[in-house]
Amino acid sequence: MSDTLRRPAEITYAAEIEALKAVDDHPKPQGWVLSPQSVITYVMGGKAGSVEISAKYVGNRRLIETAVATLATDRALLLLGVPGTAKSWVSEHLAAAISGNSTLVIQCTAGTDENQVRYGWNYAQLLAHGPSREALVPTPLFRAMESGKLCRLEELTRMGSDVQDTLITVLSEKMLPIPELNDAVFANRGFNVIATANDRDKGVNELSAALKRRFNVVVLPLPDDMDEEIAIVTKRVGEMANSLDLPAPKNVAEEVTRLLSIFRELRSGETLDGKTTLKKPSGNLSTAEAIAVTVGGLSHAAYFNKGTLSAYSLAPNVIGAVLKDPVQDKVVLEEYLETVLKKRRDYSDYYQALTELV
Ligand SMILES: Nc1ncnc2c1ncn2[C@@H]1O[C@H](COP(=O)(O)OP(=O)(O)O)[C@@H](O)[C@H]1O
Ligand SMILES: [Mg+2]
Repeated sequence: MSDTLRRPAEITYAAEIEALKAVDDHPKPQGWVLSPQSVITYVMGGKAGSVEISAKYVGNRRLIETAVATLATDRALLLLGVPGTAKSWVSEHLAAAISGNSTLVIQCTAGTDENQVRYGWNYAQLLAHGPSREALVPTPLFRAMESGKLCRLEELTRMGSDVQDTLITVLSEKMLPIPELNDAVFANRGFNVIATANDRDKGVNELSAALKRRFNVVVLPLPDDMDEEIAIVTKRVGEMANSLDLPAPKNVAEEVTRLLSIFRELRSGETLDGKTTLKKPSGNLSTAEAIAVTVGGLSHAAYFNKGTLSAYSLAPNVIGAVLKDPVQDKVVLEEYLETVLKKRRDYSDYYQALTELV
């Protein structure tokens, strides 16, 4: 086993990508490692000859087809959705399957400036020798253009609108001017941009109309079907437990089901049978949070509860996920506990563990 805590998708799934490459007989857009059809098999799962390709994204195939089709055109891709809907996950896997490199990433924040998007300077070099290509520090976007690969922009709308607009020339003319050198980089074939953004966060900067026009938007939804969500969480928890060397007890699927019914009731503001209306907490209780709560519970169970996964190990993490606003959400949770969970016999352990903590 490698010592690296988390390896990029193209390394973790190198065998799958190689197997797909070996049997890929569809035409590939220039600069792509796999054909669009094989990229879909890589993301959605399937077979490459006799090799099993694991599903990375569980959900609507059409959405991923639209995303892949977009990347084969001159338009960039924007994955939009509430936090925890696998935007970053899908973006990483698309970059791995299309470019063989998912590490050309810019994390956009309110503090991101143009130098982090276009290029910066090595000041020692700049002072010693003046502006030159050697003194220029390329950004992931710059390198993606030069090498004809995908650049990932995480949380695009978190950076200021003026900085976002730096991308307009890059996306429309596939070119990045370097006025200091009286030069420019021209993007090689295979270059494109996958941005992610979420529509729930405070403090986001709307995309300008000019920039929006350069993107095709694909909205990734929360799973609307409970069974699908159970499948996603159980699968990802299994993979994560495995990579963390945590034993996965037999009752994981059962506990995930109980946890998700709590999450889905609070998220939708009504009980699963539709009979009782509930107040909604301020957080969005995403699939990703259900995964995090379960993995936290597994670790607690393994180290402090003799390997038994139960409400006792999970409850503290549930509290953390629900109480995003310590005052308002506390009232919401207390009401849920008293009006719903208290009456359910098969949740008495949750009722007890949560009331003790809230
Ligand atoms: N539909 C889904 N299919 C597969 N994994 C999912 C799905 N929804 C959420 N996840 C999991 O949720 C986790 C977090 O997703 P992430 O990409 O960080 O969310 P986002 O960027 O949308 O906030 C990932 O481990 C991912 O595997
Ligand atoms: Mg993300």
